[in-house]
Amino acid sequence: MVPLSELPSFDLSGRTALVTGGGGLLGPQHAAALAALGARVFIADIAEDRAVAAAQFVIAETSNEQVTACHLDVTNTSNIEALSAKVGPLDILVNNAAIDAKVTAAPGVANGTRLEFFPLEQWRLEIDVGLTGAMLCSRTFGAVMARRGRGVILNIASDLSVIAPDQRLYRQSDISEDDQQPVKPVTYSVIKHGLIGLTRYLATYWAHCGVRVNALSPGGVFNGQGEDFVLRLTELIPVGRMARVNEYRSAVQFLCSDASSYMNGQNVVMDGGRSVL
Ligand SMILES: NC(=O)c1ccc[n+]([C@@H]2O[C@H](COP(=O)([O-])OP(=O)(O)OC[C@H]3O[C@@H](n4cnc5c(N)ncnc54)[C@H](O)[C@@H]3O)[C@@H](O)[C@H]2O)c1
Repeated sequence: MVPLSELPSFDLSGRTALVTGGGGLLGPQHAAALAALGARVFIADIAEDRAVAAAQFVIAETSNEQVTACHLDVTNTSNIEALSAKVGPLDILVNNAAIDAKVTAAPGVANGTRLEFFPLEQWRLEIDVGLTGAMLCSRTFGAVMARRGRGVILNIASDLSVIAPDQRLYRQSDISEDDQQPVKPVTYSVIKHGLIGLTRYLATYWAHCGVRVNALSPGGVFNGQGEDFVLRLTELIPVGRMARVNEYRSAVQFLCSDASSYMNGQNVVMDGGRSVL
């Protein structure tokens, strides 16, 4: 029997982490998960004020003072290079930034989220941030990890990385025409499935250099959404509820620490069972 003290550890003291899009809903939770285990954490966001608020939240939550807010546009290569020079080598990169595309419609108006009307500029913008941004950050920070011989990349995907959206969730009763109903945009599925491809590609690309790459696929987090939507979604989730905002922390800790030292190229789906129905 291997003694417990010799098992791979959750401890992140002395490690440096960066969370992209860290100023949103889940970013501060990922950052808090890592800071709680002793990591030095950079919270990077295109909205620097949100990153600053997130850093304050994480310091208050964890009493770890080594938490720094910074500006980063994940679509901008010189921005990424400059941040890499500033923060030095990372042990952990969490690719979390995304554009949160709103699924709403005004009655009687052709809906821009629908495939037939989906603006090409919107496609490009969302894919640039959610997918290309993850590739660009992995390329820069991951190359440094590979040269050092160690590192972990975690891509934040979604339950919609393994299933199609159920468009009935987004129906609005005040809109009678089917072809006007709002939908989850095509970009979301493409980005999230693409992130799993990126995860597998990078996982084999740098495995021999000590860099592990995995994905976490969260289900929907309750954040004050409308009652109808929540009821409809809950019916699709075997555990009977949406996720709590802090419920992915333990998975982030597992996937970013040596506790998952033999896991590489996987997609951990945490969705209350929705995707197995
Ligand atoms: N919230 C959920 O229910 C849920 C469920 C499944 C998956 N996810 C995924 O988790 C991740 C975080 O979700 P969230 O709910 O916190 O989203 P959010 O919209 O609250 O936060 C996203 C953050 O990314 C930042 N951002 C946007 N463009 C950027 C850019 N170019 N460079 C850097 N930062 C940029 C935004 O400013 C924002 O702070 C996303 O990838 C999302 O798709 C969320």
